[in-house]
Amino acid sequence: MAKIFTVASGKGGVGKSTFCTNIAISLGESGKNVLLIDGDAELRSLDLLLGVDEMVLYDWSDVIKNRCDSDKARLFYNENVQLLPAPIEYPENLTYEDFKSLLSHYSENYDYIFIDAPAGVGELPQIYAKCSDTCIIVATADEISARSALITGNKLIKLGIKEENLRLIINRFDKKAVKQGKLLNIDEIIDKTYIRLLGIIPEEKNLMYASVSEKRISQYSDAKIAFSNVAGRILGKEIELYL
Ligand SMILES: Nc1ncnc2c1ncn2[C@@H]1O[C@H](COP(=O)(O)OP(=O)(O)OP(=O)(O)O)[C@@H](O)[C@H]1O
Ligand SMILES: [Mg+2]
Repeated sequence: MAKIFTVASGKGGVGKSTFCTNIAISLGESGKNVLLIDGDAELRSLDLLLGVDEMVLYDWSDVIKNRCDSDKARLFYNENVQLLPAPIEYPENLTYEDFKSLLSHYSENYDYIFIDAPAGVGELPQIYAKCSDTCIIVATADEISARSALITGNKLIKLGIKEENLRLIINRFDKKAVKQGKLLNIDEIIDKTYIRLLGIIPEEKNLMYASVSEKRISQYSDAKIAFSNVAGRILGKEIELYL
């Protein structure tokens, strides 16, 4: 049975899709089978980030509506990482039961399923969160993002998600900017969000270029090491924070 993660945020553009892509690749490199579900209906991006956009024929709404077999809707990034693309139209009247049943087609065949949610805690992220074992909230190290992570965490708790199943990823962390007092430090972010830290991903220009050039980031980059460390923690290993 796959462990299911929803990757959410309060503010948009903080790096949810980048995180999903790279964490799936890192877990795949550890030999795990990972399904990425692009949950950002209307604004899908994981197909582009994985460089499989030209292969998209079906999406998860086709599986829910029985227009396509569950296996056929998946796209292979590689042997270990597959993608279920998002519909380009908003799935009206989608229910928790629909999504739960969608997940049941895949959970036997994967170790991990990551659902890339749209920003905020609207209807779709609520459904995804309720179907997941863990909700990862992504935030950057500034006041606005930290506050939005706190609000998101509280809304998820109100929905019935247990506090112990919430985790925080601090993305685009820039040690120099923290030293100069331009960004919050790690303790400040944890104090402001009350969410248990899963990992810190540094600011890495090549992550942006990787999405344009379809090239992956270097094995030796700080961001790659940070993603591998988060993957290790998800696998249950004790790995110190890498900064
Ligand atoms: N660690 C990082 N270092 C540098 N750039 C990053 C990092 N993480 C993400 N980015 C860049 O930030 C931008 C937004 O990232 P991304 O699309 O992953 O955010 P998102 O939270 O999924 O956005 P949305 O809310 O619109 O879905 C992209 O240009 C991406 O390349
Ligand atoms: Mg996104």
